Amino acid sequence: MRPRKIRNLTTRRENCTDLRIPYTLESFDFRTNDEHENFFDIEEIFGRKAPLVMEIGCGKGQFVCEYAKRNPDKNIIAVECVPTVLVEACEKVKEENIDNIRFLEMKAEYLPLFMREKTVCEIYLNFSTPYPKSRHESHRLTSKLFLDIYKKLLCDDGFIAQKTDSQCFFEYSLESFSQNGFVLSEISLDLHKSDFEGNIVTEYEQKFVNQGLPIYRLVAKIK
Ligand SMILES: C[S@@+](CC[C@H](N)C(=O)[O-])C[C@H]1O[C@@H](n2cnc3c(N)ncnc32)[C@H](O)[C@@H]1O
Repeated sequence: MRPRKIRNLTTRRENCTDLRIPYTLESFDFRTNDEHENFFDIEEIFGRKAPLVMEIGCGKGQFVCEYAKRNPDKNIIAVECVPTVLVEACEKVKEENIDNIRFLEMKAEYLPLFMREKTVCEIYLNFSTPYPKSRHESHRLTSKLFLDIYKKLLCDDGFIAQKTDSQCFFEYSLESFSQNGFVLSEISLDLHKSDFEGNIVTEYEQKFVNQGLPIYRLVAKIK
């Protein structure tokens, strides 16, 4: 999603402070002997213990809002690295009075610094930026770098669900998951013409479906 300028970003971000998980990389203590000191206290953040779900690259939050309404018994962290986009997602959550979503304004690369291992049950990668140029491969959210991060975060029996409109990126992801210790299931080459039930349509998905494009989907679990 292309970053764009929006009016009153600072004020709008401040108005959503209660929804954003506070952290700064500057305050991260790389010298501590106890790495746990830097980890988020997820129970305290949500005020309850519940299965934890994450969307990485949540955009303007259409998916997480609907997911949260359908799953009030789960805690959801929506990760997004572009502040102007994230603030719109926060405002949507406020408008809809949803209380089981918190936002992390962060590049997913940094998640292992702040998240305990084996704490996330489901990870959603919805229409992640495909980065088609090979020199940008490491930015793809299904490159080895990220799969190693998800392996740390996922609890036993946890899964990753990926959707994309990009055939090339999907083929790349199939190979990357397979080569990096995941087993694949529920592979669909045209989700909207399949018998899959309960799909939550994201902002990007809506655009692609309106253009008549097929949507690719897979589920990956650690071997
Ligand atoms: C194409 S948009 C899709 C938004 C939404 N998931 C949807 O399906 O409508 C991809 C989003 O992923 C975010 N993103 C890309 N790389 C990221 C990273 N390393 N960490 C966090 N967010 C990232 C981008 O800023 C962008 O908002």
